[in-house]
Amino acid sequence: MASFSYIGFLGLIFMIFGLIMEGTNGAIMSKKTQNLINKINNKGPYLGVVIPNLFEQNPLLNSPDYTPIDVVIDISGRRFRFGKIGDQKVVSVMTGLGMINAGITTQLLLSFFNVEGVVHYGIAGNANPSLNIGDVAIPQEVGYLKFADYAVNVSKGGDNVLNNIWYQPEENLELEKCINSTTCLSTTPKVYTVERGTSASIYLDNAAYRSFIYDKFKVSPVDMESAAVALISLQQRVPYIAIRALSDLAGGGSADSNEADIFINLAADNSIIAVLAFIKQLSAFKNGGGVNSM
Ligand SMILES: *[C@@H]1O[C@H](CO)[C@@H](O)[C@H](O)[C@H]1NC(C)=O
Ligand SMILES: *[C@@H]1O[C@H](CO)[C@@H](O)[C@H](O)[C@H]1NC(C)=O
Repeated sequence: MASFSYIGFLGLIFMIFGLIMEGTNGAIMSKKTQNLINKINNKGPYLGVVIPNLFEQNPLLNSPDYTPIDVVIDISGRRFRFGKIGDQKVVSVMTGLGMINAGITTQLLLSFFNVEGVVHYGIAGNANPSLNIGDVAIPQEVGYLKFADYAVNVSKGGDNVLNNIWYQPEENLELEKCINSTTCLSTTPKVYTVERGTSASIYLDNAAYRSFIYDKFKVSPVDMESAAVALISLQQRVPYIAIRALSDLAGGGSADSNEADIFINLAADNSIIAVLAFIKQLSAFKNGGGVNSM
């Protein structure tokens, strides 16, 4: 009798284990979600738009240049939204703050969806004394600030194809300068292609460190996500561009820097103006028949 109940007990354990395993699989992706993904992927490819925070995401979703498609897919706590900018189909996703969030979310995006390129945008701190609050920086290279052994030299990764089709971005792009009739930036913001940007899961607010990384590495935008998005895109061989608007002088040092809180939304808006212009230009370029390199 004892051995029977022992076998029965083992059976119960295996049954429970089996249910847990099934439950785990189901939690990652239901059949319904899988079908939805297949359906949406058949209508692709999409440009993936990767966004750190709500205040950077919402102005894009509310922009008259963005047309939503009535499909939303949730995977592992991330919400993937579909829409169009010009003729370009886009899938956008918010990562949440920091490198791990950005890495995981970009991996989900590229694992599950039919994505032909990644556009990453948001605000950033500024380490470059010749740039100003409100300017938009597009780095040629994105690297990690080396705080830990997992740091990788991303610049070894070859050409950045998406960057290469951003011709003379300074031209004709009017960025916002004022938040209302009385509070304006002291300079007129512009879009710049800069040599380097860098990321780490820390908020950089230190004038000496900011000067050090600019003098030593010629880093302009400093943020908390770009390098993770770049690394995953590189691993998956998907072209990538980062468009970051400068919201503060990382660590202060000028009159404007004390007003970073005031200009954070203006910076987010300027990054979106640049993103919309970029995607429309990309769309026009593709319709002109030329994006074999994508
Ligand atoms: C990173 O890689 C580039 C390209 O191979 C190289 O020029 C550069 O010296 C490397 N930087 C470091 C810190 O190893
Ligand atoms: C403009 O914004 C600034 C900063 O938030 C505020 O102090 C000021 O009162 C605003 N002016 C107007 C006219 O709304």
